[in-house]
Parts: sequence; C-alpha cells; structure tokens
Amino acid sequence: MSIAGQRIVIIGGSSGIGLATAKAAAARGARVVIGGRSVERLGTAAAEIGAETETHALDATDEHAVKAMFEGLGKFDHLAVLVPSAPDKTASTRLVDFLHMEVGQFETVFRNRFWSQLYGIRHGAPHMTPTGSIVLMSSSQPRKTIPRYSASSAAAGAIEALARSLAIELAPIRVNVIAPGFIETPGTSHIPTERRAAWDRIAEAQPVKRLGTPEEIAHGMLFLMENSYATASVLDIDGGYRLT
Ligand SMILES: NC(=O)c1ccc[n+]([C@@H]2O[C@H](COP(=O)([O-])OP(=O)(O)OC[C@H]3O[C@@H](n4cnc5c(N)ncnc54)[C@H](OP(=O)(O)O)[C@@H]3O)[C@@H](O)[C@H]2O)c1
Repeated sequence: MSIAGQRIVIIGGSSGIGLATAKAAAARGARVVIGGRSVERLGTAAAEIGAETETHALDATDEHAVKAMFEGLGKFDHLAVLVPSAPDKTASTRLVDFLHMEVGQFETVFRNRFWSQLYGIRHGAPHMTPTGSIVLMSSSQPRKTIPRYSASSAAAGAIEALARSLAIELAPIRVNVIAPGFIETPGTSHIPTERRAAWDRIAEAQPVKRLGTPEEIAHGMLFLMENSYATASVLDIDGGYRLT
C-alpha cells in the first residue's frame, strides 16, 4: 500500500514532527493538509512542503473549530493530530512533582495531548475513506516514565487505551500509535536549562546515544499509514530509551 495520491491531514503540521511527516508524505506523492494556530507558520511550512499543500488555521483544543474544519474539508485518507502537551514555552517549567503540580496543569496537558486528538478523530473519522488510517501520538512515558512527567505520561497512556478501542470501533479504518522518545524539534529546542541537562543525560544513557530527529519519527508515521495490516500497534521509536 502506498500513500501516493492519498490525502493526509496533519494538525500540528507546521513544525517539528508534523512538518517532517508532511514533507515526507508529499515527497511520496501524497496530498497534504496541515493545520495549526499561526497563519504565518502555516504559510512558511506550506512553501517548504510543496505548492499543493492546503492550510487551515485552527486551535485543535477548540472542539467547534475542529468540527468546522472537517465539515469543510471533504474526504481524506489519513489523520494525525500532533499538539504538544505544553501550550507555551513557560508551561514546561510548571511541570513539577505530582503533589506540587496544580490540578489545572493536569487539565492543560490533557486538553492539549488527549482532547485535541479525540476531537480530531471524533469529527474527522466520519470523513475518512475506509482504507485510511489514524496515527495517534503517544510517547515513551507510558512505558518508562521519569519524575515530573505524571501528567503527560497519564495523557499518553489514555491515548494508547483509546487507540485500542478505536481500532475495533472504527474498523476498517486502521488506528495505530507512534511513541517517540526524546526528539529535537523547534518545540523542544527552548526547554529550560535544567530539563535540557536531563535530556542530555538521557540521550547519553540510551543505546543510540543522541536525541532523535523529526524525520526519524516521520518515517515511522508513514510506515503505519502505508502498512495495511498494522492496526492497534504501538510503534516505539526512542533510540532504546525504554531499556535504560
Ligand atoms: N519532541 C519530542 O521529544 C516529542 C516526544 C514525544 C511526543 N511528542 C509529540 O509529538 C507532537 C509534535 O511535537 P513537536 O516537538 O514536533 O512540536 P512542535 O515542533 O512544537 O510543533 C507543534 C505543532 O503543533 C501546532 N500546534 C500547537 N498547539 C496547537 C493547537 N492548540 N492547535 C493546533 N495546532 C497546534 C504548532 O503550530 P502553532 O504553534 O502555530 O499552533 C506546530 O505546528 C506533539 O504531540 C508532542 O507531544 C514529541
């Protein structure tokens, strides 16, 4: 199965893993639709991806905006919603140990990481072709977590559980999960110094002694879209982080 000629919707497609996936899909002959909040970022990304790229400005944590986008979009084949847990660069500094984290911080992480994907599927799936697929975004956290990541670990774990249910309920549409380790993207390039030092230690300890690239995750996302026997799969691409 090839994605050539297929239509792929990537919300969060103007940066990082989403942009790398959009570029790789377009290079294989897919038609790409990208979403994100910033019109300027979308325009820059579309110019990089290719002339036929469609763009939609929306906040994926706003259900009405997500519904409106899909109502006007027409049929498509594959879907990914890639909104980071932390809505801004200061948010990661508020990720502290469980007993000191405000409950509102948990709600923020779930809104970004869980609800954005749920809204995308709820309103996108009715417009998908039966041979299409959904790639949900998790992380290595549900299988190997570290202190201060309880919120994003729980939200990613909920996504993996949701994927298993939807692989049955939405069939024949396939539903898979990609679980990246620690990836160098524009979104993670400004993390606080203390967290950066922890990331460097993590990278050094794992078998592949470096952070991952967006292109390496994009490669896995396209594998899940193209492999017509893959459903309810969780694909870890983490440099062996789980073994450390
Ligand atoms: N990088 C890692 O180490 C890593 C590891 C595991 C999982 N992940 C997951 O991979 C995904 C992509 O991460 P990344 O590091 O590639 O991020 P990134 O470089 O920061 O890109 C995030 C993309 O999402 C868009 N976005 C952010 N908030 C949005 C919202 N509310 N509504 C619509 N679009 C929104 C951004 O555009 P605008 O800002 O213009 O909206 C941008 O296109 C995320 O779900 C993240 O949790 C990343």
